[in-house]
Amino acid sequence: MTSPQPTPSIDKPLLDAFGAIVGPECVRTDPESLTLHGQDETEDLIFMPGVVLEPDTTAQVSAIMRLASEHGIPVTPRGGGTGLSGGALPVAGGICLSMRRFNRIVEIDTRNLQATVEPGVITQKFQEEVESAGFSYPPDPASRGSCFIGGNLAECAGGPHAVKYGVTKDYVLGIEAVLPNGEIFTTGAKVLKNVSGYNLTQLIIGSEGTLAVITKVFLRLVPRVRLKKVVLVAFHTLEEAAEAVAGIFQRGITPSALEFLERAAVQAAEERQGKRFPNGNAAAQLLIEVDGNNEEALTEEIAAIAEVVEQHNAADVLLAEDRQKVEEVWALRRGIGEAVKSISAYKEEDTVVPRAHLPQLVKGVKEICARYGLTSICYGHAGDGNVHVNILKNTLDEETWNRVIDPAIREIFTLTVSLGGTISAEHGIGYTQRSYLPIALNPVELRLMREIKRVFDAKGILNPGKVFLDGPV
Ligand code: LAC
Ligand code: ZN
Repeated sequence: MTSPQPTPSIDKPLLDAFGAIVGPECVRTDPESLTLHGQDETEDLIFMPGVVLEPDTTAQVSAIMRLASEHGIPVTPRGGGTGLSGGALPVAGGICLSMRRFNRIVEIDTRNLQATVEPGVITQKFQEEVESAGFSYPPDPASRGSCFIGGNLAECAGGPHAVKYGVTKDYVLGIEAVLPNGEIFTTGAKVLKNVSGYNLTQLIIGSEGTLAVITKVFLRLVPRVRLKKVVLVAFHTLEEAAEAVAGIFQRGITPSALEFLERAAVQAAEERQGKRFPNGNAAAQLLIEVDGNNEEALTEEIAAIAEVVEQHNAADVLLAEDRQKVEEVWALRRGIGEAVKSISAYKEEDTVVPRAHLPQLVKGVKEICARYGLTSICYGHAGDGNVHVNILKNTLDEETWNRVIDPAIREIFTLTVSLGGTISAEHGIGYTQRSYLPIALNPVELRLMREIKRVFDAKGILNPGKVFLDGPV
């Protein structure tokens, strides 16, 4: 749905001034570029920027920000455009700051297990480079084939392997960034321990491009593991699947991935990809992966997992060892988001609770949606207690959908918070979840965050209209 916003005018002399900074070919005002950069992967939202700028150096970003700040022009940084909460949507018009030319892997330092990258590097490309050097960079959002490292930092992206290896923030040692007024600064250092002052690195990670423009990232790497095994466990009910999750960890096992997939999610991916999941008709499945360097240890872990899931009434336990089968299962899993979203208009939520409360969350979500006459499809990173809830409009009429969707989401989030969880685990608040943030944060917490925003961005020009409801939009 388009909600046109007044675009602050960027006149010809100003466009020429930006052209003098980045080169005229990197100033885009053609309708096609503006339309492309007006969208990300969030619903069907589109907000046209006034101009797309494609800088190539930190000095250029600094000069752009200085000029934008002087003229009060909003600037929305943009990575790969794969965001799911509208973080990269230029909701106030102005400048879309595309970081696509910041695509250099500056260094992979195998002596220190560290890397320096620019924010426009595609995550999967970086992972592959690191792997060919014999190491690993684990954060792997489903969009890793097209998302950028910079966007991963902005939203603190997670992904299936976060359950064992952590999320983006766990790998960032420091950042070079540019303030909205054009000043350049560096946080952290290329060290594994650092208490020299406040932790600005972690403040910027997850701040959704509202505090500073990231221009360089210092990352840590980990050793690469050699072996992986995957089990697919089918269940008769969603609750039984959800209940088995905590049991696996209680048994002392930390899988490298533990994903929850309800039938409708599996079937959507099967349909879209023309491939079949084993046990695709089960009410729910757990996709459980273990990794390591010791075959025997993995076999023991799989046996222990099988025991736990059988205690939870598993209908079938399938070991997928064949590399190609495993890759196929993961490709289906990674395609679920896109497949579910292609069914109908939708709202996508990113709830997370302490893992043992997963059964209450899943049950509650289903009850709430049914009560409002809404269809929900749940899948996600069960090992993290993180469930993606897609609420589909399907054949509901516009009037009913518009009336019920907001109270239904509020109930889901209220339940999530009452279970000790929060409203976004890895997709961010961005534009679409702003009105719900007060469900998760109290007024003191919100005030602190607004004050931090003002310290970084007194004029409010950097990614306005995000995180807080009281922006200019
Ligand atoms: C996934 C995205 C939607 O887990 O976070 O597929
Ligand atoms: Zn996810």
